[in-house]
Amino acid sequence: MPDWKKLVDAARRAQERAYAPYSNFRVGAALVGESGKVYLGCNVENASFGMTMCAEQGAISAAVVAGEQKFTHMALITDSPNPESPCGACRQVLTEFAPDLEILSVSKTGVEQRWTMNELLPMAFTPKSLANEQPE
Ligand code: THU
Repeated sequence: MPDWKKLVDAARRAQERAYAPYSNFRVGAALVGESGKVYLGCNVENASFGMTMCAEQGAISAAVVAGEQKFTHMALITDSPNPESPCGACRQVLTEFAPDLEILSVSKTGVEQRWTMNELLPMAFTPKSLANEQPE
């Protein structure tokens, strides 16, 4: 088990770095690798709105370039009054590297909610799907 409080604090620091001048909706993610190292991501928006990068995908990129590809836990924090779950695109990106990820989301006011990756994206299309493996 990670120290969730520390992980949420790390996600909050990442959120403070968000570049979200268009939505004003800042997101921070702190992703824990199997090594125990923590990788941070924040949303990075663009004047060409569709080019916006989500916080979770930023954290995955930071980890992969650092040499880590397997993850166990992620803390997510947003500016919403409710705990928000990763968007559909982020679920797909996270599943690639962390099909068993445990996610803790924290709202602006500190309300928490937890999910597993499998709850958020059941029956996912994964690297196994490409390997033509028979279902278990
Ligand atoms: N956003 C994320 O960073 N992660 C998500 O899972 C959902 C949305 C960002 C994208 C955009 O900058 C802002 O939140 C509003 O959609």
